[in-house]
Amino acid sequence: VSKRVRVAVAGAGRAGEVHALNLANRVTIAELVAIIDQDLNLANQLAQKVGGVRSYQSLSDALKNEKFEALFITTPTHTHAPLTIEAAENGVHVFCEKPMALNLEEADKMIEKTRRHGVKLQIGFMRRFDPELRRVKKQVVEGAIGRPILLKSLTRGPGLPPSWALDPSTGIGMVAEVNSHDFDTARWLMGSEARSVLAKGEALINPGLKEKYAGYHDVYVSVLSFENDGIGIIDGACPVGYGYDARVEILGTDGLIVVGDIRGSSMVFYKSDKKAVTETFPSWRNRFYEAYIAEAESFLNAIAYDKKPEVSGEDGRKALELVLATIESMKTHRPVNLPLK
Ligand SMILES: NC(=O)c1ccc[n+]([C@@H]2O[C@H](COP(=O)([O-])OP(=O)(O)OC[C@H]3O[C@@H](n4cnc5c(N)ncnc54)[C@H](O)[C@@H]3O)[C@@H](O)[C@H]2O)c1
Repeated sequence: VSKRVRVAVAGAGRAGEVHALNLANRVTIAELVAIIDQDLNLANQLAQKVGGVRSYQSLSDALKNEKFEALFITTPTHTHAPLTIEAAENGVHVFCEKPMALNLEEADKMIEKTRRHGVKLQIGFMRRFDPELRRVKKQVVEGAIGRPILLKSLTRGPGLPPSWALDPSTGIGMVAEVNSHDFDTARWLMGSEARSVLAKGEALINPGLKEKYAGYHDVYVSVLSFENDGIGIIDGACPVGYGYDARVEILGTDGLIVVGDIRGSSMVFYKSDKKAVTETFPSWRNRFYEAYIAEAESFLNAIAYDKKPEVSGEDGRKALELVLATIESMKTHRPVNLPLK
């Protein structure tokens, strides 16, 4: 590779570890230089794990001491806007994990600031880089199933989201944490924007958490009406225990495409108890392993060769709007029209 892009990662938690390991070991255009976490121990540990890069307790510290062109933001939702703005003001390109921000005002500011300072902004919808979903998109665009009329997308997670995600002052809850991706996939594959949302949610797996977290729910369905008159159905639930389950089905006037499997392996054990046993995906890490690498590669290439990122801030804002409309509809038991005021 002729040009490498110097990168820092802010947030040494679950997503930060995945990205940092990829940037250090898999993404050839990347040169990982620093890990940032407000918990310096976590930053140090991850920095060691990726081969001994430097670690910092804040983005400001890192900016003072290091030169890097790109920042990967893998911190809780409420920090996405301030970190993006600080990076932009320092001329650093931003890759920000989903959900983009706590609300649309923050998302608008992130888009405006990155634009004004001439830095790129990509949101972490790695499913757009999943090899199978890319083929689905191509087929749909080429008209292989006629006009898309019904899209079903579901994601169910094996564990509870981190507690900051369930606390309304730092996160948006399960719909954002688990299903942001489905809303993005729905608009991407439908090739159309939603004009209204009707949703129903309950707390049936851990009803006790309703006392602890305002608006807590752990299973829901959201029905989207698209401008092209197509219908979308998103569902989410967690924790489901049985594995990380992400599947999509798109029905057109001339065919159906189904993608994704609950099974995470083609291996089956046949035993003397007359049962056949296979495996599910334990986590998003393995279900979308290649997609995380490809999205980072694509973002850093957009920087190196001055191209538009494949997933924009506007895409992040649209998915956020669908998440927020879904939550509002769950509360009011009424359809919510878009755009949100
Ligand atoms: N794309 C995906 O599939 C995927 C998967 C998991 C998480 N995520 C996203 O990644 C983000 C992080 O989620 P997670 O599960 O890794 O969380 P996490 O709790 O595991 O890690 C977050 C880390 O950020 C640190 N932190 C908090 N505020 C900070 C600040 N201001 N500066 C520096 N560090 C700070 C915390 O100390 C913690 O170590 C969220 O937006 C989440 O939705 C995306």
